[in-house]
Amino acid sequence: MKRHLISAADLTRDDAVLVLDTAEEMARMADRPIKKLPTLRGRTICNLFFEDSTRTRISFEAAEKRLSADVINFSAKGSSVSKGESLKDTAQTLAAMGVDAVVIRHSASGAPYRLANSGWIDAPVINAGDGTHQHPTQALLDAFTLRRRLVGHDAGIGQDLSGRRVTIVGDVLHSRVARSNVDLLHTLGAEVTLVAPPTLVPVGVDSWPCEVSYDLDSALPKCDAVMMLRVQRERMNAAFFPTEREYSRRYGLDAERMARIPEHAVVMHPGPMVRGMEITAEVADSPRCTVVEQVANGVFTRMAVLYLLLGGNEPAVTQPSSRTEEK
Ligand code: NCD
Repeated sequence: MKRHLISAADLTRDDAVLVLDTAEEMARMADRPIKKLPTLRGRTICNLFFEDSTRTRISFEAAEKRLSADVINFSAKGSSVSKGESLKDTAQTLAAMGVDAVVIRHSASGAPYRLANSGWIDAPVINAGDGTHQHPTQALLDAFTLRRRLVGHDAGIGQDLSGRRVTIVGDVLHSRVARSNVDLLHTLGAEVTLVAPPTLVPVGVDSWPCEVSYDLDSALPKCDAVMMLRVQRERMNAAFFPTEREYSRRYGLDAERMARIPEHAVVMHPGPMVRGMEITAEVADSPRCTVVEQVANGVFTRMAVLYLLLGGNEPAVTQPSSRTEEK
């Protein structure tokens, strides 16, 4: 694996499968009475959040704490960033404090790349979402969820998602989740179809490794998973569709539409959901919707990423039997 995780496109098939297999080991730990591992004891990780987040921030913090790292949480609101401090000065402050890894979310696409390649700080950088660009750990947790659901927990070890069909629906234009998922799912052998109104399809999408459709109903019967995206109002500077009602009617997932997807297929959403817009409450609360499972899997997947980027040579999980043998 590369030293930093900036884009899902940085991962080879073998890197990605290694993360998913390691996440599976981490998930097994969650069933033990003591969930904590000593792997990152004495290491300091800083979570640098320049943009709002609920799931991703809590998930990274939980993952870091389960690996026994010391955690510093930084959020731009209430910090000197709101006084005009630059990313460079913030990074140098962290470097002076000796942090061992930085998790960064930023509204500017490219900020994590800049941090990783600037020389301001010498630590692995993990992108927790930058502008409309990338969100690689979300794609990894989505792939983990898909592999568990479609291939199986144990049966999935060492496997990719070859031949599985995933339909990603909604505001693709502003979605870093869609970009990361297209890259990673393609690397893992899955076939991806993007469905969006023409105004929310990015320019240059023809060079992406996926199909594009404007018709949700025709894309649903042949997928193994449908991933709904939130309409990213905060990133919109124009009207991209006539009304919310019109958007929901054509691109929202309701029970009637869900009946068109195959029995075994799952409904995914990275959260936060806007119930009644891209997904109805009935679909969001159905057992086929993996949204809560995705959150749980996010912790295991981020533990795996942190372990692989920082853990070095210690085994991720010490088996109780081998510990007894050592004594
Ligand atoms: C997404 C994000 O922030 O990119 N959410 C997440 O990380 N779970 C998607 C979104 O905000 O709609």
